[in-house]
Amino acid sequence: MSEVKTIGVVNGGGDAPGLNAVIRAVVRSAIGAHGMRVIGIHNGFDGLIWPEGSKELTEESVSGILPRGGTILGTTNRGNPFGYRSTEDGKEVIHDYSGLCLENARRLGIDALIVIGGDGTLHIAHDFARRGVKVVGVPKTIDNDLSATEVSFGFDTALLVATEAIDRLHTTAESHHRVMLIEVMGRDAGWIALHAGIAGGAHIILIPEIPFRFESICDAVYARENRGKLFSLVVVAEGVKLPPTDPNGKMIPPASPGNVANTIAFTLREMLHKEIRVTVLGHVQRGGSPTPFDRILATRMGVHATDLVARGEFNRMVCLHAGKIESVTLEEALSQMKLVNPASEIVHAARAIGTTFGDNA
Ligand code: F6P
Repeated sequence: MSEVKTIGVVNGGGDAPGLNAVIRAVVRSAIGAHGMRVIGIHNGFDGLIWPEGSKELTEESVSGILPRGGTILGTTNRGNPFGYRSTEDGKEVIHDYSGLCLENARRLGIDALIVIGGDGTLHIAHDFARRGVKVVGVPKTIDNDLSATEVSFGFDTALLVATEAIDRLHTTAESHHRVMLIEVMGRDAGWIALHAGIAGGAHIILIPEIPFRFESICDAVYARENRGKLFSLVVVAEGVKLPPTDPNGKMIPPASPGNVANTIAFTLREMLHKEIRVTVLGHVQRGGSPTPFDRILATRMGVHATDLVARGEFNRMVCLHAGKIESVTLEEALSQMKLVNPASEIVHAARAIGTTFGDNA
């Protein structure tokens, strides 16, 4: 058993549907099952540097938040307290605020931290653990790229939004005989593109893990046309790696998320001479109410994180493994990213039903 009387709960990085469900589960189980207090830390670790907004969360303060998207705590995906970048007198300066965070956590009476975050936030949590802070992590990423957990909350909701969008594009693409590209999130991994592509019946899926060639995309579009299918749907993961040049040797400009599908469409237009339209789904995938699956997963993870704190098991991250909520060490959790394996069964299944990944396979 641990000596913890007060838990600080903090989330960092981009928001994900289900964050509020985790916070609610932590607060309700900490108070109800373990007689502990919970302090909500506002705006990521910034709330430990400037703790004025951080305050106690009660059952009343988390009432009604289960179906709400976003996070009642606010968040930021900038600001690492161990190397905080800001501008002073027109110059960039970097401060180490970690000592200040420890001092403020002590002042707030926080004995242990539950940190809800993706790779970046959990690395910061790990650095605090190295400084002696009692930390338990909860994985949060719509990209689903944390290797220690089979799935993280937020992914299912993002997938639903992306699949619905593909369904909608399907009908308009077919009516206009167009090639439609849809760019979805996934900075390093193609999970959203792969799953939404299969669920939405996309014809071509481009993901970071499988290098593509423009010629293969065109071949797939022409092959469909030869079968009388005059439209094609291409799902593009924002993290997909663009070839350095087009088939004519013309340089392809580097593209950042939000502009990747448009960059691909530019070359495809020149090659296909067809009407091409692009939809960038963007943050719509992160907003709004979590699906029942994400609410349940987030609740189970929040409860398990609180149980770990109560049992005195720190420096660990909660995870889903073979349908059970378990935990792994933070070291293990952060050791590698979870990428799509091009030789996996799910990629094989997609290929078997005729989906193209823009490669030669
Ligand atoms: O990491 C999750 C993610 O949704 C990425 O897929 C995306 O690139 C990124 O966040 C965008 O975040 P923001 O626009 O908030 O910086």
